[in-house]
Amino acid sequence: MKLIIPTVVLTLASSFAGATPTPLANSPVVPAPLNGEYPNLPDPLTPLLSNNTYDYVVVGAGTAGMTLAYRLAQDPNVKVAVLEAGIDYTSNLVNQALVEIPGADTIGCGASETDFLNNMIDWGYVTAPQTGAGNRQVRYARGKCLGGSSARVGAFNMMGASTYPSPFFPPPLPLLPSSHLCNFMLYQRPTKGSMQKWVDLTGDPQWNFDARFQDFKKSVKFTPPKSNLRQDSPSAQYSAASFDPASTGPLQVSFPNFAQPFSKFVQLGLNEVGIATTQDFNGGSVNGVQYCPLTVNPQGGGRSTSRSFFAAGQQLPNLKVFNEALAKRIIIDAPSNGGKPIAKGVRFTQFSLQTLDVYATKEVIVSAGAFGSPQLLMVSGIGPKDQLERFNIKTIVEAPGVGQNMLDHVFAAPSYPVNVDTPTRLVNDPVYLAAQTANFTINQLGPLTSNTADLLAFERWSDSDLSRIGAGILTTYPKDWPTVEYFSAAGYIGDFSNLAAENMRVGADGTQFGSILLALVSPRSKGTVTLASADTKDLPIIDPRWLTDPVDQKVAIEGFKRTRKVFASRAMQPVLTGPEFYPGSKVQSDADILKWYQNNLLTVWHAACTVRMGKKEDGAVLDSNLRVYGVDSLRVVDASSFPDLPPGHPQSVIYMLAERAADLIKAAHT
Ligand SMILES: Cc1cc2nc3c(=O)[nH]c(=O)nc-3n(C[C@H](O)[C@H](O)[C@H](O)COP(=O)(O)OP(=O)(O)OC[C@H]3O[C@@H](n4cnc5c(N)ncnc54)[C@H](O)[C@@H]3O)c2cc1C
Ligand SMILES: *[C@@H]1O[C@H](CO)[C@@H](O)[C@H](O)[C@H]1NC(C)=O
Ligand SMILES: *[C@@H]1O[C@H](CO)[C@@H](O)[C@H](O)[C@H]1NC(C)=O
Repeated sequence: MKLIIPTVVLTLASSFAGATPTPLANSPVVPAPLNGEYPNLPDPLTPLLSNNTYDYVVVGAGTAGMTLAYRLAQDPNVKVAVLEAGIDYTSNLVNQALVEIPGADTIGCGASETDFLNNMIDWGYVTAPQTGAGNRQVRYARGKCLGGSSARVGAFNMMGASTYPSPFFPPPLPLLPSSHLCNFMLYQRPTKGSMQKWVDLTGDPQWNFDARFQDFKKSVKFTPPKSNLRQDSPSAQYSAASFDPASTGPLQVSFPNFAQPFSKFVQLGLNEVGIATTQDFNGGSVNGVQYCPLTVNPQGGGRSTSRSFFAAGQQLPNLKVFNEALAKRIIIDAPSNGGKPIAKGVRFTQFSLQTLDVYATKEVIVSAGAFGSPQLLMVSGIGPKDQLERFNIKTIVEAPGVGQNMLDHVFAAPSYPVNVDTPTRLVNDPVYLAAQTANFTINQLGPLTSNTADLLAFERWSDSDLSRIGAGILTTYPKDWPTVEYFSAAGYIGDFSNLAAENMRVGADGTQFGSILLALVSPRSKGTVTLASADTKDLPIIDPRWLTDPVDQKVAIEGFKRTRKVFASRAMQPVLTGPEFYPGSKVQSDADILKWYQNNLLTVWHAACTVRMGKKEDGAVLDSNLRVYGVDSLRVVDASSFPDLPPGHPQSVIYMLAERAADLIKAAHT
């Protein structure tokens, strides 16, 4: 019963939208079950039955790995294998449909372990107890599927287990909470100053924003907003110069055909407290407020992920993607005469059954993400000596930086009752939800086309304000580097434990909510990724240490007060129907605000820098061309390779990094 209802609904819904095949850039026409980007494929794709040799072996078909592998395989003379621990989410129609509805992205991403409803396509990480976050152990969503965290989506399982009082809620209500939470699809680039920081840390001018602008643009096919359908005023802006009209993508970047009615008021409120509207977030500066472009496909309105590179390369005979293939270690030849070790291939298990080796004649590229990449290096003998010795792993290269220096962003939000429709209504009004599911599926209209947090603002505080609050160190950051980010978030956030369940609880009487999320985008706190065992089948230990640095604490307190100022603005009064609902007026002193923020924060899922590029003498693990110091034929390309975490949302940086890595690798082998 539980499974049948939504399956039927989705099957019906998808049959409306899937009638015409849509041509895909760089690939033949493929049938389009839902929106044109996602052909249905058998899973597993290509079982590997014996040990094989390729030119390149890429570990991880995630955001970076799939992009890089496709670019390498565009050269018909090389053979590329990709090992992905997870499944292909299109292997199942329900999963596929759930991935693609942007409006369901807030579900299944909560901080609580009970909101872990995605075990088929999520790693299931839970952090070590966080002293900077009320001693909580916080679930950390990470995609385990083709597309990686760019496709972090819902699998259909455990419906109602902790979310719903009854599994027999009217359809398609049960479908949402059990499924989603996804990547929020925000596509925005870092600032010129923050990329200059990469240049300073690596000593390589090739990493500056202007030098890499072409790589930022290369992956992306941009489609301007349809203002008439969005009915937004002021309407979304963008800068055409930030995109390449000749690009074929395959990653789609556009705007949903819906602007959250709440966001208009937030924009005006932010303007009133001094944050001006800016034209775009993709040309090297971000300070200001604007609707953010999303990685959604304007044809069909569904999500676009790095799986689009898989779809584009699907017909290439020289690109093989192996699902359910968990890398166990990198095979490294370490000459006994003390010569330089060289990566030869990867040992992995497929379907948790057979152990196989796959060999790379040119290079092994690790793209297993900010947690998976340091883990794989360490179990392969590359890492801090104490970590390796603790688990009896033979040291091949002592690299103290592996798993260190983790940077991340966190956020939390006060919520107010409002008089416009928000997702609070979607989870409380089944008839409305059913109508809007149809509206999305058939017309690509309505709130389910939206990612919910559609309007962003970045703000750099003045040097005098930073010094006044005790965050003077942040005055040394490049001047275009914002201190904080605000998200207009239609709906109730609470303590992030389970957005769907909490919106059902607080909105049961018909009240709607709006929130402004405050994120720290110049964090000082640094965390670690360490081993729990010498086997990649055991998850590594993640200790982000959020909000442990006093500077971050000061910024959180000040930023929270500023979100209250925005809510107090004249411009926001018409949408508010009452005083602050959560945390409410009892939270006033700095100490109370800090405690509240720490007890309620969640990661923005931007973990990075755990295998960072930089100078060897500074403890970096990778040289400025992403090669592991001390080992030949081995690179790491993903969020872990960032020298520093730029402000804002990292997916644009990861696509850029993968494009550049592909060019570097090709150049090294011609
Ligand atoms: C819920 C959520 C919302 C987000 N929202 C946004 C947003 O709105 N905008 C934005 O810019 N960014 C967003 N992000 C962040 C962004 O998605 C990530 O920073 C990015 O996807 C990381 O890319 P990656 O290539 O480093 O790793 P991933 O994309 O995570 O890829 C790593 C891949 O390696 C695989 N893997 C790991 N270990 C092994 C192994 N041992 N063997 C084989 N395979 C392995 C994994 O299964 C995975 O497929 C969000 C992230 C999450 C989780
Ligand atoms: C693959 O190679 C490994 C290591 O050389 C070997 O133990 C295993 O038997 C091989 N498997 C197959 C199927 O050839
Ligand atoms: C679909 O959504 C649009 C807003 O994007 C709205 O104007 C329209 O009334 C909705 N249609 C239905 C049937 O709810």
